[in-house]
Amino acid sequence: MRMVDVIEKKKHGGILSQDEIDFVVQGYVNGEIPDYQVSAFLMAVYFKGMAKREIADLTLAFVNSGDKNDLSSIQGIKVDKHSSGGVGDKLSLVIIPLVASVGVPVAKMSGRGLGHTGGTIDKLESIEGFKTVLDKETFIENVNRHKMAIVSQSSNLTPADKKIYALRDVTATVDSIPLIASSIMSKKIASGADCIVLDVKVGSGAFMKSIAEAVELARTMVEIGKSLNKKTIAIVTDMSQPLGHEVGNANEVKEAIQILKGEGAEDETTIALTLASYMAILGGVFEDFATAYAELDRIIKSGRAVEKFKELVRIQGGNPEVIDNPNMLPQSKYHIEVRSSESGYVSAIDAEKIGLTAMLLGAGRAKKDDVIDFSAGVTMLKKVGDKVDKGDVLCILHTNSANAQEAIAICQRSYSFSTGEIKLSNYIHEIIQ
Ligand code: URA
Repeated sequence: MRMVDVIEKKKHGGILSQDEIDFVVQGYVNGEIPDYQVSAFLMAVYFKGMAKREIADLTLAFVNSGDKNDLSSIQGIKVDKHSSGGVGDKLSLVIIPLVASVGVPVAKMSGRGLGHTGGTIDKLESIEGFKTVLDKETFIENVNRHKMAIVSQSSNLTPADKKIYALRDVTATVDSIPLIASSIMSKKIASGADCIVLDVKVGSGAFMKSIAEAVELARTMVEIGKSLNKKTIAIVTDMSQPLGHEVGNANEVKEAIQILKGEGAEDETTIALTLASYMAILGGVFEDFATAYAELDRIIKSGRAVEKFKELVRIQGGNPEVIDNPNMLPQSKYHIEVRSSESGYVSAIDAEKIGLTAMLLGAGRAKKDDVIDFSAGVTMLKKVGDKVDKGDVLCILHTNSANAQEAIAICQRSYSFSTGEIKLSNYIHEIIQ
């Protein structure tokens, strides 16, 4: 087989066979096919798309390129959750203990943040002592005993996806639905869970900017799951502004604790409860959504959910006192108020710009190896729909950097205003199963 023929076929919209897809993926990982040919192939996929069967084959080729987690020694139906990435998305911190508290085992592997989006592993590492690397036996034992464990993604999980993702990043081929869907689903399938709940974000802070595109991505991923015998549900959720009020690492942990205590913002509480309800249904604990939602809400209000988070912190070596006293989390030296230059109603907050602001303050990485500052971040006092007067504080920027001028300017530009009242978006746009 010759790579040039595969490129030629896809360039004309041909449907590739499983052998052809395996040839591309294996050849690239082995170093036999050069970057320039895979770049041309990715661009052909970008313009011509892929059929359902091709996307499933591509997903499997990624899965087969590296390690696969064997979770068979964990009792019960293992349910995983994935978010397509957003700003202020601390929901995994809430959902893991919440779902575990009704007995559904959650064996979670998560990633780190890059660019304007944060990563669950970085957030947890802002808790003193919290270990995000566990040996396999401890990981399995914690899930069997406590119904939950979370670790940083293994370096040899889907190496083909890793190599191709890096190439997509520099060839303007990231925003292709077949490529995003196969990339995300390959990691979920290699992670070994039986069922998957996907949080597909849509809006200014997400890959998908329109609901139609997000629904298409969600449907594509649900179909991949089904074709590979993993029950999959996708929930399209709003990311037209950052979630909740906090963006950063330590301050997102603080806000996750509030949600788990029943004191969280309405948007993130609703989305967390919805995702957790579907996980608990797939895990076989509840039959219908209304019962699952009401019961999980009751668990939050009873204090059991936050206690379960404390247990997670303790069993992974973190200081559990942080849960009762979140001021023990890292604190920055400077707290800069960003004030409104207009009066009116907040009509939009560009989530990507707020994510960028947090990154510039030290909370995120511009490059993969950058060191992050756990205490840096943004507290949004005003959200979409709020009435503001000129001079009101919109946000507080937390940083250890004495020079935050660029971050202040981007933060200011992320807000838009209108003179009339604003109709708020739904938090949940669609559920695909
Ligand atoms: N997240 C992934 O893991 N892969 C993509 O392609 C996009 C988002």
